[in-house]
Amino acid sequence: MDFLFFVGRFHVLVLHLPIGILLLAAVVHWLSRRQDNVRMAGALPFMWAAGALTAVITVVLGFLHFLEGGFTQPTVGIHMVTGTLVAVLAVVIWYFSTRKPVSYQRLGTPLAAVVVVLLFVAGHYGGNLTHGSTYLVEYAPQPIRALAGLEPRRPRVTDVALADPYLDLVRPMLRNRCATCHGNERQDGDLNLWTYEAMMRGGDTGRAVLPGNAERSELYYRITLPPNHDAFMPAEGNTPLTDSEVEIIRWWIDADTPLDTTVGNLNVPADVLDLMRSWLRL
Ligand code: HEC
Repeated sequence: MDFLFFVGRFHVLVLHLPIGILLLAAVVHWLSRRQDNVRMAGALPFMWAAGALTAVITVVLGFLHFLEGGFTQPTVGIHMVTGTLVAVLAVVIWYFSTRKPVSYQRLGTPLAAVVVVLLFVAGHYGGNLTHGSTYLVEYAPQPIRALAGLEPRRPRVTDVALADPYLDLVRPMLRNRCATCHGNERQDGDLNLWTYEAMMRGGDTGRAVLPGNAERSELYYRITLPPNHDAFMPAEGNTPLTDSEVEIIRWWIDADTPLDTTVGNLNVPADVLDLMRSWLRL
């Protein structure tokens, strides 16, 4: 099984080939409709064949990748169906392109247009699976963020004393490093770290964060393991939290996970204050 999982992960690499080849084939198809460019059409059977072959391989790898499990988002179905349709249609177009001119001339253009649309839909939902649906717009101007249903960004903190210890420090750290697997779309270990309430609900062990007791909190335990440990978080070699981030999180849990307050209202040790200042780039 491990070997199938190993091969399946190449899905995220190989998928770029059919995207590039099929888009290019659609453009060449479009250009070759003009009389001046008609010789370009000669390359089309080859291009559709390459697009179809790489699309079929990508779909097979995609199903192997899915076997790994953990893809619980409802949109995974849309991604699989549209991705599979791309491969099927690419094979159909390739078949017609070898039997030109009659059937290809009539069917080529609408089929190519449908493939392009399906490529975008499949690609969009696929991207959401790996990065989360808000990845692309995280740093977008507020009107675009609002369209994507994101709350306004917190105004930049200019004085550490005025920073909210959860909203301005701990939450962005966790969202940056953990949300792809513990966000609203995907909750590995049944743990969602997107909001305070979700985090406090915890995951499989039910004690992700124990206010006042970092040492016994599963979350703190996981981020302080040796990075090569199986249970180390973030999993799968994703960029870990820095030492200062771990230290700020430790302070926050030990301080009873304060919320809706400011750093200035709390008794923060000077060394942790310094870490906060430099994290906030003050
Ligand atoms: C690449 C995906 C991935 C990323 C990124 C990730 N995790 Fe996890 N996490 C998992 C998986 C899978 C599990 C369930 C298996 C296990 O418990 O090790 C898990 C489980 C956990 C658990 C145990 C929950 C419980 O109560 O049993 C905690 C705590 C945790 N993660 C914290 C974090 C933190 C904190 C980060 C960010 C620094 C993070 N994870 C980033 C995949 C990930």
